[in-house]
Amino acid sequence: MNFDQLHNRKGSDSAKWDGVNKYFGEQDLHPMWVADMDFPAPQPVIEALNDKVEHGIYGYPHVPDSTYQSITGWLSQRHQWEINQDWISFILGVVPAISTIIHALTEVGDKIIIQPPVYYPFFGMVEDNERVLSLNPLKLEDGQYKIDFDHLEQIIDNETKMLILCSPHNPVGRVWSKDELQKLGDICIKNNILVISDEIHADLTLNGQKHVPFASISKEFADISITCLAPSKTFNLAGTQAAYMIIPNDGLRKKVDNQKKKQGLYALNIFGLTALEAAYTHGGIWLDSLMEYIEDNVKLVKDFLETELPSIRLIEPEGTYLLWIDCRALNVEHKKLERALLKEGKLALNQGYTFGENGQGFIRMNIATQKAHIQEGLKRLKQVIDSVQG
Ligand SMILES: Cc1ncc(COP(=O)(O)O)c(C=O)c1O
Repeated sequence: MNFDQLHNRKGSDSAKWDGVNKYFGEQDLHPMWVADMDFPAPQPVIEALNDKVEHGIYGYPHVPDSTYQSITGWLSQRHQWEINQDWISFILGVVPAISTIIHALTEVGDKIIIQPPVYYPFFGMVEDNERVLSLNPLKLEDGQYKIDFDHLEQIIDNETKMLILCSPHNPVGRVWSKDELQKLGDICIKNNILVISDEIHADLTLNGQKHVPFASISKEFADISITCLAPSKTFNLAGTQAAYMIIPNDGLRKKVDNQKKKQGLYALNIFGLTALEAAYTHGGIWLDSLMEYIEDNVKLVKDFLETELPSIRLIEPEGTYLLWIDCRALNVEHKKLERALLKEGKLALNQGYTFGENGQGFIRMNIATQKAHIQEGLKRLKQVIDSVQG
C-alpha cells in the first residue's frame, strides 16, 4: 500500500473536491474538510465491485448469510464483541439510521441529549424532527475533552428520552474509555434513557487506543442501546451507502424495523453490500497500514504546529482522521479567520462553531490524505495565520 501516491479526484463527482467551490463559495480551494479519504479502497473491495459491475445486472439485492457473517466476524475480531446476526438491521447510512431511530423510539417534544462540539447533523436530526435538543457540552480539561457527568445529571428531566453518543467522538477525537462509558450508561439506565451509539469511527483508533462498543459492556447496556456502524469511514466507502444498526433488544428492533417499513426504507445498494462484505472479509491488513499512515500524519501536523505555529494547538487525537485544532489563543475573531482561510489561504477546513457553540475558535482538519497534500495545507495555514496576526 503506497498511501503517498497522489490520485486526481477532481472530476470524479467528489463532494470534497468537486463540491468544494459550491459549498464554500470560493474558487480553487485546497480541500481538507468533509470526512472521506483521498485513498482508494482496499484492492479486494475494488475487485469485488468490478466483478459486480461486470455481471451487468443490477436488480434488487438479497443479503446473503456471508454478508452478515462478515459483520459478526469483524466485530468479534476487531472489537471482541460477539453479536447475534439477527440483531443486525441494514440501512443506507448512519445519518438515516439516527433519524429513523428518533422517529421510532421518541415522540414529538421529547428531549434528546447530545454532547457538543459534535458531528453537526445531530443538531438537525433532533430539531428537524421536532424533538428538543438538550445539550451536555464536553469539558476541555488539561488538553483533553471529558464528559461532564454532573451537568448531564442536572439536565435530565422527565421529558429526556434519549442520548446520542458519538464514540469515538467526531470532531474532538476522543476514544471513550470503558470507565467513562460505564458511568454514562449507568446514568442512562437510572433515568430510562435510550442510547444511540454512533460508532462509525470505531475502527479508526490511534496509537494503541482501544474502542469499546457501548453495548458490549453489559447486557443492560445492550438492552437500552442501538449501535450504528458502517464500513464507510474505515474503508472510504461513504458513496456506496451501506450501514447497519445493531439492536439486541427485540422490542426496540421491532419498533425500528417497523419505522423503516413506514418510511419505505427497504432498499439497499447492491454495490454497498458487496463493498461491505469484501472490506470486512479482506480489508484488515489494509486498515492496519492505513492507521500507521494516519499516525504519521498526526505527527507531521503536530510537529509543524509546535515549531511553526506555536500559538495554535492540536488536541491530541485518540481516534478518527479528523484533527481538532485550537486557534483561540490567536485572539482573532473567528469569522475573520474563516474568511482569511478561504480568501487568502484558499484552504477548505471545517469551522469549529459548526459543531456547536463551544467549538468556536477551533478548526477541523481532515488528514486522511497524502503527506504532500497535508504539507501544502499547512503551508497555507501558516501564511494565513502569519498574515492575520501581523
Ligand atoms: C459521527 C458520524 N456519524 C455519521 C456520519 C455519516 O454517516 P453516513 O454517511 O453513513 O450517513 C459521519 C460522517 O462524517 C460521522 O462523523
